[in-house]
Amino acid sequence: MTAIDPAGTVAVVGAGTMGQGIAQVALTAGHPVRLYDAAPGRAEEAARAIAARLGRLVDKGRLDAAGRDAALARLQPAARLAELADSALVIEAIVEQLPVKQKLFAELESVVPDMCLLATNTSSLSVTAVAGGLKLPGRFVGLHFFNPAPLLPLVEVVRGFATDAAAAEQAAATVAAWGKTPVTCADAPGFIVNRIARPFYAEAFRLYEERAADPATLDAVLRECGGFAMGPFELTDLIGQDVNEAVTRSVYESFFHDPKFRPSLAQRRLVEAGLLGRKSGRGWFDHSADAQRPLP
Ligand code: NAI
Repeated sequence: MTAIDPAGTVAVVGAGTMGQGIAQVALTAGHPVRLYDAAPGRAEEAARAIAARLGRLVDKGRLDAAGRDAALARLQPAARLAELADSALVIEAIVEQLPVKQKLFAELESVVPDMCLLATNTSSLSVTAVAGGLKLPGRFVGLHFFNPAPLLPLVEVVRGFATDAAAAEQAAATVAAWGKTPVTCADAPGFIVNRIARPFYAEAFRLYEERAADPATLDAVLRECGGFAMGPFELTDLIGQDVNEAVTRSVYESFFHDPKFRPSLAQRRLVEAGLLGRKSGRGWFDHSADAQRPLP
């Protein structure tokens, strides 16, 4: 199965952290990209952020100015879903709530052609459930990019119960053509990375709660002896404590409250206090000095 047509339009719905990154990836791969967000003005704001990020790549010599200008000329913010009608692929990156995603895809199905691939970037919901109300669920897949999407190569291609093998293959071939490394998996809670990573976070947080060692020490041990690029405390400060806790809760619910996946009380306290990590200036660590540092 081949990738979607390189000249085919890729629509990205949800112009937040992930939507911006995914739109940048599709743009630099040569596609026309439509970016839609339900919040008025958010798609235009995201287009400006993408322009600034491509500008930084030019400054670093990783993209030439003509390439940046051509990419930006292919980017069109959309004010209405109806403007996504000629899409070859739609990737959804909206709020992580099942009914909201289901409603969006029901609306999208009446807008896009039957041949259009539909994908969700959900990190913790069941792909099968998101596709639940679709008339044509065979063309629906999970395309789980990691943050920051322009930098991290892995994309999990998730097959829901009703996903056609051809759709999963086409989605994998498409992200491979974008320079990513697709790994196809079934619709298991947490897919691969978020499932395997749960004990990495959970045991570290439990050790902290048991006063075994402080976050900086535990991070240093895992970095220096475990070979991890980042420890669990600094990594969850980068991801966002709220985002990370929501994934843990979702996996915990999916396994009928198996204590192995029990969320952390200390992390809950951080979330309740708004100490979300880098994005709020403080999480496990104080980030007031680098909170405004832009991502590459
Ligand atoms: P975000 O909060 O930065 O952006 C979400 C955007 O969706 C907002 O701009 C919001 O206005 C928009 N939105 C909400 N409801 C909408 C609707 N019905 N129609 C159109 N737009 C709507 O969220 P983020 O972090 O980009 O996450 C998006 C998705 O990606 C979620 O499913 C999340 O689980 C997943 N994800 C997040 C990662 C992360 O590290 N933040 C990593 C991988 C996946």
